[in-house]
Amino acid sequence: MSKPKITVKNSGVVTLNFFKDFPDGDLFIAEARKNIPHDIKRIYFINNLANKKAVRGKHAHKKLTQVIFCINGSFHLGLDDGSKKQTVVLDDPGYGVILGPKLWHTMTGFSDDCVLLILAGDYYRKDDYLRNYDEFMRYVHKDRRHD
Ligand code: TYD
Repeated sequence: MSKPKITVKNSGVVTLNFFKDFPDGDLFIAEARKNIPHDIKRIYFINNLANKKAVRGKHAHKKLTQVIFCINGSFHLGLDDGSKKQTVVLDDPGYGVILGPKLWHTMTGFSDDCVLLILAGDYYRKDDYLRNYDEFMRYVHKDRRHD
């Protein structure tokens, strides 16, 4: 169990407060605009990741900010801000990774018991997705033309 080290832009680590009550369970707490950097308008979770070759994500968002947790098991989270790439392992429910705007993300390497929990700052909006990598790169770099 380890804290991910984030080096890409538009990301970061969120640490949850927790109460360990072994053997009666662990309690983790996420609070909007306290340890979660945004309001929470939508929560979704992903389970039944039995396919070893499953690849999820493979997109970025234009405006949306989310925080992703692995609340059971483990998986690999690939992050790409358009300039820098990294992969981190999420295997601790106490640490979440911020998926800010303009951050291409890919999830792979799921353990059989993996459960992902995502806290999103806005409702589902199809037009906020960048699902094509070339389009993502153009979108990221158009803002940087005058840097
Ligand atoms: P997607 O965001 O691509 O999942 P992942 O990043 O985990 O691979 O969403 C998969 C499908 O579910 C896609 O057709 C859109 C739909 N969806 C909703 O309708 N509402 C939502 O809140 C989310 C997250 C997805």
